[in-house]
Amino acid sequence: MNVPRHPAAFESPLVVVSNRGPVSFSVDEGGELSAVRGSGGLVTALAGALFESDATWLAAAGTDGDRAVAASGRPIDLAPAGRASFIDVPEERYLGYYNGVSNRILWLLHHYLFDLSYLPTWNAETRAIWDDYREVNRQFAQALDRESDRQPVYLIQDYHLSLVPRFLRELQPDALITHFTHTPFAGPAYLKVLPAPLLEELLRGMLGADVLGFQAEAWAENFLLSVRDSLSDARVDLRRRRVHVDGRTVLVRTYPVSLDPGPLRLTSRDPEVKRIRRELTRWRGEAKLLLRVDRLELSKNIPRGYMAFDSFLADHPEWHGRVRFLSLLPRSRAEIPEYETYAARSLEAADAINAKYGPDWIPIEIRTEENYHQAVAAYGMYDALIVNPIFDGMNLVAMEGPLVNKRHGAVILSHNAGAYARLGRHAIGVNPFDVAETAAAIHQALEMPDDERIRRARGLTRAVLTSSPVRWLTAQLRDLDRARAPEEPGGSEPGEHVEEPFGTVDGEVGHGHEIGGSF
Ligand code: F6P
Repeated sequence: MNVPRHPAAFESPLVVVSNRGPVSFSVDEGGELSAVRGSGGLVTALAGALFESDATWLAAAGTDGDRAVAASGRPIDLAPAGRASFIDVPEERYLGYYNGVSNRILWLLHHYLFDLSYLPTWNAETRAIWDDYREVNRQFAQALDRESDRQPVYLIQDYHLSLVPRFLRELQPDALITHFTHTPFAGPAYLKVLPAPLLEELLRGMLGADVLGFQAEAWAENFLLSVRDSLSDARVDLRRRRVHVDGRTVLVRTYPVSLDPGPLRLTSRDPEVKRIRRELTRWRGEAKLLLRVDRLELSKNIPRGYMAFDSFLADHPEWHGRVRFLSLLPRSRAEIPEYETYAARSLEAADAINAKYGPDWIPIEIRTEENYHQAVAAYGMYDALIVNPIFDGMNLVAMEGPLVNKRHGAVILSHNAGAYARLGRHAIGVNPFDVAETAAAIHQALEMPDDERIRRARGLTRAVLTSSPVRWLTAQLRDLDRARAPEEPGGSEPGEHVEEPFGTVDGEVGHGHEIGGSF
């Protein structure tokens, strides 16, 4: 039996660790440092959850600017959301850890993106980058261990840091640890693409935590099934979603992440957003606006989105000249060959459609710069938003759009995005591989009668607002206390903490989490 030596999780200081931090620094030619907000769903969710907290946030130094800040030894003040520090990972290790394992192996694995006829191939090079991944994870655990003087709760984030819970547990057997996976988690058969020792290391690494969080039921279940399949000494209780291993109990639960509407709505009133909105309004003219906002990245299913648009235009010539498709696609991980090829093929697909219908009407406009103001401006204006990922842990674009849209825009949403569980009944659901169905969804979205459009748009907004980043974090801390409480016969049931089973559609029910205040 574990006897808690810690104060309750709610009373403990929070130490968050993720690969990408809340800010990143660049150095200009004159040597001046300037900061930009870190991008991605993880940063959005955590920044919301940690608002008005005293948390410490550790992240890898990913740029020269970050390394300069790390060398200064001074934490970055994030008031009113605590402070951040960078961990200076040696550059030669960082490449193997981030580009090699995180982006070329784990990302592709958890999103089912390997072209298995050819890739991956395991060889000395992949084993060397796995060593980098392991050593960087160890370095993160050591950095966390140095934060131990106030007996914190450690909140470890994402697939980059799968091994950190175990390394930290070895350093601090009694530490309170959660690990949250923001991506999908692949099923047991697909995970076996990893060589058995690496798979075992990955699962055991995560099992160093007390609580493992996932975005959706399907991913939590995949984890449990993989443990049952691959670790003979672990006892998996599928019904109560627990794993008993090494004399400890690990809870495996679902906490669908959410977003805080406040900062987003504030941004939508920013003068720069208004300026871009005017520019986009001129560009769109009388046409309806179909929008997508995605990192230019393999899981987002961008080429099939264009195939569907092309097919919609072929089936509905009456729409020629009356719709424009704005695609805001900031480049992502462009130095990795698979991602570069994907970006090129996505852009070629759009060019081919424009060539077919141009020059008088250029239906698709692609903008690849990272510009959050532009995304927020476009959110305000769409008639239809397409979010059709192959697989996605959650997808915050599907939530951000409805919160600021002013035209009761429809949302076309992949069944395979975690967000579908919360938003699906108000969206037009699509199988992301079914181009014909997606083409029909575009048509349905653009021709939707006003009363239905209004009803669905209100439903989407309500569904987004049923949760919040604070509730997301609160639920994890509550389970952390439960994980450490002596186990009662019949103990707590996981259903108490699950907001929406994956694949079902339930947007309107507040599922009983209480808001524990801000952190
Ligand atoms: O989906 C989880 C996530 O951590 C997102 O926050 C982010 O979009 C992505 O994965 C990681 O992206 P990057 O490699 O650019 O940090």
